[in-house]
Amino acid sequence: MTPVLIDCDPGIDDTLALIYLAALHHLGEIEIVGVTTTAGNTTATQAAGNARWVLDLLLIDAPVLPGRPGPRHVELTTTPETHGPTGLGYLEVPAAPEGPEGEWAAVWEGGVDKHPDLKLIVTGPLTNLAAFRHSHPEHYARLRRVTVMGGAVNYRGNTTPTAEWNFWVDPHAAAEVFGDPPAAGIRLCSLEVTEQFLIDPARLTRLVQDLGGTPIAGELADVLRFYFEFHHAQGEGYQAQIHDLLTCMIALGTVPYEDLSTTIAVEADSPLMRGTSVADLRGHWHRSHNARLVTAADIDAAHAELTRATRTLAARWPVR
Ligand code: BDR
Ligand code: CA
Repeated sequence: MTPVLIDCDPGIDDTLALIYLAALHHLGEIEIVGVTTTAGNTTATQAAGNARWVLDLLLIDAPVLPGRPGPRHVELTTTPETHGPTGLGYLEVPAAPEGPEGEWAAVWEGGVDKHPDLKLIVTGPLTNLAAFRHSHPEHYARLRRVTVMGGAVNYRGNTTPTAEWNFWVDPHAAAEVFGDPPAAGIRLCSLEVTEQFLIDPARLTRLVQDLGGTPIAGELADVLRFYFEFHHAQGEGYQAQIHDLLTCMIALGTVPYEDLSTTIAVEADSPLMRGTSVADLRGHWHRSHNARLVTAADIDAAHAELTRATRTLAARWPVR
C-alpha cells in the first residue's frame, strides 16, 4: 500500500483530489498518512477546515493540520473569486483552529521516518515544502517521491501572462525548492498539462451518480457550480480545470503520462515576472537537472480512473 502525504489548499480541484485519494485509501491501494495545508486558494486554517470536512464525510481519520500561515517574503494573496469565499465554492464550513507551531512539520517528519517510500503530493503553493527544507534538512533530503502541481512552464500563465497561481502566490518558495530540490528531484505537473483535465456539468452529473450513497455526493453540485461560473467568466467555457486531481493520478501512476528530465528555474523578485517558471530544454544553462517535467497525460484514462475509483468506493459504502 503506497503511503501518501498531501499538502494542499482546498480549493475546489484540491477537494476532488482528496475525494479520489480517500477512495483509493478505502480500496486499500494507498494509505493517507496525513494532510497538511498551505495558504493559497484560501487561508491555511480554512483549507484545513475544508480538508477535514471532506475527510470526515468520507470516514478518513488521517491527521489534517494547517501549515505555515503564508509566504515568508511576500504578503499572502488568496483567491475567493476562483474558489468561493472560503474555498469550497458556494459551501462554507468552519476553519480549523491554528495548530501548535510546527505540528504539521512533525507529521512530515514522522511520515519520512516511518515510510521510506512515502509519496508527497503538493497541490498548493510550495510554502510548506520550502519551510521543511529549512527546518528539517535531513528529512527533506530523504524525500524520494515528490510531485508538485505548479508553474506554467514555458507556457502562458493563469495568474499573470507568464505565471501559474501556486508559483505566483509564493514565488520565493518555488524558486528555493527548484534551486535546491530534494535529492531525488521533483516531478512537476505544470498548467499546460493539468488544465486539460476538465469537468463539465454532464461529467459532474455522472460523478455524483458514481459516488452513489457516499455523503460527499450530495455536496458536490454547490462546490463545482462556483468553479464552472469562474471558468465561464474567464472565457473558458462553463466547465472547470481539475489540476490537482490529475496531479494525484500522475503522482500515483494511475494514469499514463510522459515526462522528461530537465532543469527548472522560477523567478521570484521581478514584479512583472513573479512566479514565472522556465525549463531549460536545450541545456543552455549547463546546470544539473532538478525535475521531471510532465509533458503529456492521457486525459481519457484520467476520467476512466476517476470513474473506477468512485464507483468502486460507492459499491463498498459504508466502508467501516
Ligand atoms: C492551481 O491553483 C489553484 O487555484 C488550484 O487549486 C491549482 O492547484 C492551478 O493553477
Ligand atoms: Ca490547489
